[in-house]
Amino acid sequence: MALIDKHKIIETNATLLFALSFVVVTIGGIVEIAPLFYLENTIEDVEGVRPYSPLELEGRNIYIREGCYVCHSQMIRPMRDEIERYGHYSLAAESQYDHPFQWGSKRTGPDLARVGGRYSDDWHVQHLINPQSVVPESVMPKYGFLMDAMLSDRYVADIMRTNRAVGVPYTDEMIASASADFAAQADPDSDYDGLLERYPGAPVSNFDGQPGISEMDALVAYLQMLGTLVDFSTFEPDASR
Ligand code: HEC
Repeated sequence: MALIDKHKIIETNATLLFALSFVVVTIGGIVEIAPLFYLENTIEDVEGVRPYSPLELEGRNIYIREGCYVCHSQMIRPMRDEIERYGHYSLAAESQYDHPFQWGSKRTGPDLARVGGRYSDDWHVQHLINPQSVVPESVMPKYGFLMDAMLSDRYVADIMRTNRAVGVPYTDEMIASASADFAAQADPDSDYDGLLERYPGAPVSNFDGQPGISEMDALVAYLQMLGTLVDFSTFEPDASR
């Protein structure tokens, strides 16, 4: 019997075809998935990556609440056109402390993975209040109400504890300093040395230019640190893994 005829036996018997397909898919699945259970960590640690500061974490929650991810991705793919437009491709470690991750699946607007430091705080505030005032053809909605929504430090330590429960390495000291760090980051006249020691590179500014801490402050603090933690002038991928 020729090989093709033997295969005909399988192809003309639906039950047999299903059973054998199941065996093949199962083997393939085990080969792909089983090794992951034996690896402690599949993410290469990268110097500079740190958990979000309390204010940045609040900003990230506002980003999620407002659905920014519906129009913006945060993942630069390793392809030349993307790298030329957005910068170094995203590393797994850069979203290591994101719960949930913000890679997104649609780009109505540009990728935001490295938007930090690209514009001034004023630009971001103006753009969020009225995107069309800086980019006339923009279809982005207005978020001016964030200026009036004042943000208290009431839940920030709890949010950090929740992140710690899912693996973000917030120390007891970080949680104890949550309220102080939250306030210091939005006030350039404060004593923010402790904040910078705990969260190196955290942008410190009165982001929205008005007194008090608004949701705008938190969101802009988050946007201004996105993609800035790793120094790509010295970064070398670890080829041993
Ligand atoms: C309906 C889709 C949509 C939503 C929702 C949206 N954006 Fe945008 N966004 C855009 C578009 C389109 C652009 C490009 C034009 C412009 O700059 O306004 C843009 C641009 C931007 C830029 C400038 C990026 C760059 O590299 O020039 C930032 C920052 C930004 N958006 C942040 C946000 C944030 C934060 C939110 C949530 C509060 C948000 N966007 C929600 C569509 C959207």
